[in-house]
Amino acid sequence: MAAMDGRIALVTGATGGLAKAVAAGLAREGAAVVVIGRNYARAQEAVQDIRARVPAATLEPLACDVSLQSSVQAAADQVRARYGRLDVLVNAAGVFRKERHVTAEGLELTFATNVMSYFLFSNLLLDALKKAAASAGSARIVNVTSRYGNTRLAFDDLQTAKGKYSYLRSTPPTMLARVLLTQELAERLRGTGVVANAVHPGLVRNTGLLKDVGGPFRWITNRFGKTAEQAADTPLWLATAAETAAVTGKLWAQRKELPTPGMGSDVEARHRLWAECSRLAGWDGVHK
Ligand SMILES: NC(=O)c1ccc[n+]([C@@H]2O[C@H](COP(=O)([O-])OP(=O)(O)OC[C@H]3O[C@@H](n4cnc5c(N)ncnc54)[C@H](OP(=O)(O)O)[C@@H]3O)[C@@H](O)[C@H]2O)c1
Repeated sequence: MAAMDGRIALVTGATGGLAKAVAAGLAREGAAVVVIGRNYARAQEAVQDIRARVPAATLEPLACDVSLQSSVQAAADQVRARYGRLDVLVNAAGVFRKERHVTAEGLELTFATNVMSYFLFSNLLLDALKKAAASAGSARIVNVTSRYGNTRLAFDDLQTAKGKYSYLRSTPPTMLARVLLTQELAERLRGTGVVANAVHPGLVRNTGLLKDVGGPFRWITNRFGKTAEQAADTPLWLATAAETAAVTGKLWAQRKELPTPGMGSDVEARHRLWAECSRLAGWDGVHK
């Protein structure tokens, strides 16, 4: 029997290289994997790619535009209705956009995708994760992020509406935000058997993230980056290994814990970000 037989996993961003490799790894371990794509065709294409690598895989394509709260809500509802439980949630969908875009729901696209989707999927699937933890001993949230250096969150402008937009201003703070949300989740989930960790995969070759940016970044990434399979190693380890079942609230890279310098250790910033995400979700205290 494979280690994840009978377990249910959901992976966002699974139409991209890194998260697709994570989804394939989970399927290889025996998990049934919900493969999220921005539309059904993208999700189905990823399912076919994964099945070519793992012929025995149990996969379900699910359409969800993760930048839209209504779409995330609908996907989470479907997963709860169909499976009732969730053993592994991997949040990895992300964007790196040259121009500022606003979603149909009025949020800035990078913040909506990189931060709100992580917050929403985690919260909307919490009951399903707790149910899995109660029956299997543990359930795991793995939030793919990046090293964030000395980046800080500008709480008066989280959606980069002020001044001139640049991806260097909009994107690095979303990586820090993912770390802070992971820490806050871990605190809130203590004692439930659900753990939450963040992971920096390293630079990933042929990433779709840079299609909008190009130039030297793309050259460096393709020259020095890891393959998607190599980049998937630590996320998979956090999602499946026995030795990480009880580890929570940390940032990882190459199976080693990373420090969270600067604002990444600021408890007040963490609380503030959580409150702001709750407000943007319109929850008014429901999930606070
Ligand atoms: N690549 C790196 O060097 C690197 C380094 C550190 C951290 N990361 C993080 O790792 C994660 C994965 O990166 P990657 O390199 O695998 O990027 P990628 O190849 O561009 O994959 C990102 C995935 O997110 C999906 N996505 C974006 N917006 C979406 C939306 N609104 N609805 C549904 N899906 C959406 C993309 O789907 P489409 O293809 O349909 O757009 C794609 O499948 C990202 O969150 C990134 O921040 C990457």
